[in-house]
Amino acid sequence: MKFQLQPLKLRTLIGEKTDVLLVFVPSDFKPAADTLSGWIDKTVQDGDFQGKLGSLLEIYRPHGLPCTRLMLLSLGQALAADIKENLGTVMTRLKACKPEQITLCFLTSVTPVILRTALSAVSDASYVYTTTKTKAQASSLKRVDVFAPLDQSVRDAFDQAVAAIKGVELAREWGNRPANHATPAQLAQAAKALAKLPKIRCKVLGSKEVVALGMGAFEAVAKGSDEPLRFIELRYQGGVKSDAPVVLIGKGITFDSGGISIKPAAEMDEMKFDMCGAASVLGVFHALGQLRPKINVIGLIPSCENLPSSRSVKPGDVVTSMSGQTIEVLNTDAEGRLILCDALTYAARFNPRAVVDIATLTGACVIALGDVRSGLFSNDETLSAALKQAGDAALDPCWPMPLDDDYAQGLKTSFADVANVAGRPGGAITAAKFLQRFAGQWPWAHLDIAGTAWKSGKAKGATGRPVGLLVAYLMTLADARA
Ligand code: BES
Ligand code: MN
Ligand code: ZN
Repeated sequence: MKFQLQPLKLRTLIGEKTDVLLVFVPSDFKPAADTLSGWIDKTVQDGDFQGKLGSLLEIYRPHGLPCTRLMLLSLGQALAADIKENLGTVMTRLKACKPEQITLCFLTSVTPVILRTALSAVSDASYVYTTTKTKAQASSLKRVDVFAPLDQSVRDAFDQAVAAIKGVELAREWGNRPANHATPAQLAQAAKALAKLPKIRCKVLGSKEVVALGMGAFEAVAKGSDEPLRFIELRYQGGVKSDAPVVLIGKGITFDSGGISIKPAAEMDEMKFDMCGAASVLGVFHALGQLRPKINVIGLIPSCENLPSSRSVKPGDVVTSMSGQTIEVLNTDAEGRLILCDALTYAARFNPRAVVDIATLTGACVIALGDVRSGLFSNDETLSAALKQAGDAALDPCWPMPLDDDYAQGLKTSFADVANVAGRPGGAITAAKFLQRFAGQWPWAHLDIAGTAWKSGKAKGATGRPVGLLVAYLMTLADARA
């Protein structure tokens, strides 16, 4: 899909040859002297179209206009959440018409948030998963043109929105692929493909190197499966060499059966989504390759399957992590933290300015926050506030959760330095407390995306979150530097 931004010229807009000309009408709309706005004014006067939110007027093959459908959608007070909902409705309605081109038109100045929301609503609605279907039709939509009064902030917001959307699409695609079509080796290939983009390099480690590094916790999870593990390292260098990078770590469990502590059969298929953290890192790098901000970013993805076999790690086994800390694996289903802890230790070599891990880590986080906000855990107020704000701005929100040391009590054990699980209460927090032990002294945040990374039920599928949040965060860092 191609997105294009153009300056608004009301007189010429009326001549746009397009499948859908969608005009957003603000509540304080004042007609100018051109035909289109005169005509909009008339529809309001005649009571056919109200300025109130969600009001929609649709005309098929309007006389004298080259567009196939003209739609007026009232912006009301122009709240992002409303636009998302209303545009979603419009897009559902257009599905059967299979438009190839949609033209969005903002009559008055548009804010970055509104622009971003409108574009992602169009993209969300038109994404179709086709990879493992023989007859599925890809989306008909090829072009989205946006007309708006332009200034530099609108141009920047547009570029950022488009890059984030492409990143979200990539993350959705890899998230949705079944585990036998998204193996650790295939994820590594996807990462290597990203190294074709400017300023991006990629290095992939296999089992031998991982063992040599002493990543005993990661190795313990991987060894139950015949599918070989991969440790992916992506580098984006947009700043000068000496700039400390942000390190993003994505959980890349390509299938989580639970291992010996096996999960119940119902909905186990959804554990193919357990690499959505990894997919979000791929998505962010794709966006970085487009936007080329002046910052440095490292992406780390420990990736393997978690399966039961005679070689699997067993409940009660004690493994030695790369940090030297020993871990008693009381539950093999708490595998995410085991692969992440070694990646956190590995991150030290980059002397990072901040480390953010992204993981579908706990069912408890789904219970706590549902599918609206991702869980945000951090040892650093500034980092936490920046991520919270980025999430709100990108409509990809998260919410700060506590990290009191008292929550770590349950991780104590007589047989190792730390256990990999505590009791059921506060499960998302105790998981974060486990990770915090490996986070070192630099600013660290953990995003638990178990509730937000995919949708269950009829509309089952990856959401591409939190690519939007992370791109917004990284772009603010780049802006602050400029
Ligand atoms: N990948 C799961 C977390 C998960 C479960 C995400 C359900 C989304 C929906 C993770 O590896 C896991 O199994 N966590 C356990 C931890 C428990 C054993 C302490 C969980 O949440 O049940
Ligand atoms: Mn698990
Ligand atoms: Zn898992």
